[in-house]
Amino acid sequence: MNDFILHNPTKIIFGKTAMQKIVEHLKPYGAKVLLTYGGGSIKKNGIYEKIIQQLAGFTVQEFSGIEPNPRIETLRKGIEIARAFQPDIILAVGGGSVIDGSKLIAAATYYNGDAWDIVTNPDLNPSKYIPLATVLTLAATGSEMNRGAVISKWETHEKPAFGRNELYPVFSICDPQNLYSVPKDQTAYGIVDAYSHVLEQYINTTLDAPIQDRFSEGILLTLIENALTAIQEPTNYTARANVMFSATMALNNLIGVGVNQDWATHQIEHEFSAFYDIPHGAGLAIITPRWMEVVKDYKTAKFIQYGKRVWGISGDDEDIIANAIQKTYDFFASLGIKMSLKEWGIDNAHFPEMIQRLAGKAGKEKPLTAHEIQTILNNCL
Ligand code: NZQ
Ligand code: ZN
Repeated sequence: MNDFILHNPTKIIFGKTAMQKIVEHLKPYGAKVLLTYGGGSIKKNGIYEKIIQQLAGFTVQEFSGIEPNPRIETLRKGIEIARAFQPDIILAVGGGSVIDGSKLIAAATYYNGDAWDIVTNPDLNPSKYIPLATVLTLAATGSEMNRGAVISKWETHEKPAFGRNELYPVFSICDPQNLYSVPKDQTAYGIVDAYSHVLEQYINTTLDAPIQDRFSEGILLTLIENALTAIQEPTNYTARANVMFSATMALNNLIGVGVNQDWATHQIEHEFSAFYDIPHGAGLAIITPRWMEVVKDYKTAKFIQYGKRVWGISGDDEDIIANAIQKTYDFFASLGIKMSLKEWGIDNAHFPEMIQRLAGKAGKEKPLTAHEIQTILNNCL
């Protein structure tokens, strides 16, 4: 097992009563709240109203319109608003996009330059970070309990991730009932995203970290067991709660400490959404089985473990691996997800640029070669 420090400062307030606890947890930070949200789903499902009623005693400024795959071009406007308003805390209400975009506002408001610098230069720090709290409305990214964010620059079709310890949310309200209105497709993409986060940290060559492995397998099994119910019965509290907690635990440091991580699938997917603006989980579903085919020969032992423990497959090693990859593909397909780029109307036009950006860089355990990336991309078509 590799050396590590495990420190996650985010307080998770989980369950049916979580929404009633916003004020109690906000108060210590001050009276000025910047309320950030996306395209308006929170106004349709009643979440906005519930929050606004509780914020009666606060001075509230709103910034809405943070889009899926949040763009720097939009967030610069939010940063201007925050500079003028000088909030004590930001309350981000939404899924990963709203939370990620709000992390950039939290980081760039007190930076004397363009926010993109903060995204691209990990050594740059503002004079102050604004504390960030979240009300999670979509289970997927884990952004509610991690230090990272992914920001798009549409102008250049880039979508890099950035992170700072100061950007762990101070608290996150996780009420599974807030997921009841998430559409079927977004529910499925969120499940695939969480599943992929586990695979990125679990399908590795670290073979002496059974605690991390078993946490990971527990999350994968819980996602598999609850996925269809969450999609088919959107108001099933138990399914929504288990998916929600799985997604949070899938990317909050817990399973990734002390082990080699990969992240090639994510790096490739960020190229897809940077060029085509497709939902993150939709891209991951297409790439994951194709990535597995390319790396199975050196991550063999973990693939066999995955096949046996998660999918209950027996037989000879080669069969277990082949079956495990097929089961993964079938699981994603069973959630109603398109499993090829063609179904999204995407062809190979931008493959050369993607390969140039990714070759030798995608994959932390063993970076993929240009040829391997070409193979994965071609098989995604
Ligand atoms: O814009 P609103 O109105 O909020 O609508 C959203 C959006 O259209 C809607 N939605 C959210 N909650 C809802 C709801 N609709 C009905 N009822 C609700 N309760 O769902 C749509 C998608 O939302 P979005 O926030 O984009 O989804 P997700 O949570 O999957 O976030 C995706 C973004 O997070 C990044 C992705 O790359 C992508 O940009 N990621 C962030 C990570 C992180 N910070 O750690 C890690 C991930 O790997 C990922 O890269
Ligand atoms: Zn992801």
